Amino acid sequence: MTATHNAPAPERSADALVGRLFDASIGMFEVMSVYVGDRLGLYRALRDGGPATAAELAARAGIDERYAREWLEQQAVADLLDVDDTSAAADRRRYVLPDAYADALLDLDSPLSMAPLARSVVACAKVLPVLLDAYRSGGGVDWADYGPDMIEAQGDFNRPWLVNSFGQDILPAIPAVHEKLGAAAGARVADVACGVGWAAIAIAKAYPGAKVDGFDLDRSSIVLATANAERAGVADRVTFAVRDAADPAAAGQYDVAVVIEAIHDLSRPVEVLGAIRGMLKPDGVALIADERTEDVFTAPGSETERIYYGFSLFTCLPAAMTERPTAATGTAMRADTMRSYAEAASFGGFERLDEPALDMLRFYLLTP
Ligand SMILES: C[S@@+](CC[C@H](N)C(=O)[O-])C[C@H]1O[C@@H](n2cnc3c(N)ncnc32)[C@H](O)[C@@H]1O
Repeated sequence: MTATHNAPAPERSADALVGRLFDASIGMFEVMSVYVGDRLGLYRALRDGGPATAAELAARAGIDERYAREWLEQQAVADLLDVDDTSAAADRRRYVLPDAYADALLDLDSPLSMAPLARSVVACAKVLPVLLDAYRSGGGVDWADYGPDMIEAQGDFNRPWLVNSFGQDILPAIPAVHEKLGAAAGARVADVACGVGWAAIAIAKAYPGAKVDGFDLDRSSIVLATANAERAGVADRVTFAVRDAADPAAAGQYDVAVVIEAIHDLSRPVEVLGAIRGMLKPDGVALIADERTEDVFTAPGSETERIYYGFSLFTCLPAAMTERPTAATGTAMRADTMRSYAEAASFGGFERLDEPALDMLRFYLLTP
């Protein structure tokens, strides 16, 4: 480990640790309060209906008035909502969603969208009893067991960049993929471990000749993906199916395969990459997006590495541990691990792309 990889040494004092964990605990409560506002439609009711008292918000959103009042007070104390007059009687105060916060809390297509992160953290908390058993036994927690909060949140994390820039900027900046997708004959594309389908939909929208097959092990993701494709108007060229990506498919059928933020989640990444290699045409190409990790383990680490390890402890590693044998990769999959998986799957070409890049994801190009 070299000094250049290290964040500044934290202050080593009990007081500093106490302060840090106290702040984090407030943060955890506030994240859960955002989950409540998101899932009960409270932010939406405030944005759409304007300033509200507790009784008005309760009526608009169909919740209990006493809980509405407590949530509104907590949101104002946390500076997530504005309140018109703190000295007014509790039932007379009116609360407002600041315009500056609306995109982060309500717009799922916005690059600022944060409500899905709150949903995923709460989904992790919900499985903690099972997770403790898994930590003791070496078992896992099935991805499906995290429920709709996690499955929808996963789709919604990647949705802003997939909807706004994947087809518009990112794919055109990768000529080896762009040329195949734009081919006059119409490209055949696989979206492997597609989740709720935003990558497949983005490709179909950007490349009108492309036909995309998305597949995923999780049935509820496929149901959502199918509905998303219908709503996006591309259901005639995008199909989704429940399928284990490690199962061999008909050989040589696809021009392009994409795997978005899933390789590190797979129990059998080499088998899945091997199956992808088999289903690509001899001149086909696989585009992988996975975590934009540091090249080496670094401690203390950046905020990005800290969030990767957070997801790894509570979701990605346990999901990968459900099968035996498992690669048990963890979220912080480093580029050399990705390279070793591609080589083990007999891909002849491996390229790490540092451009184009996203804040949290890096692309890799694999060729048979
Ligand atoms: C972190 S999610 C990523 C989903 C999607 N690509 C996205 O970016 O939102 C990982 C996905 O891998 C899927 N998965 C895990 N193992 C799989 C397998 N063997 N075959 C197909 N899908 C698998 C999970 O069901 C889950 O939807």
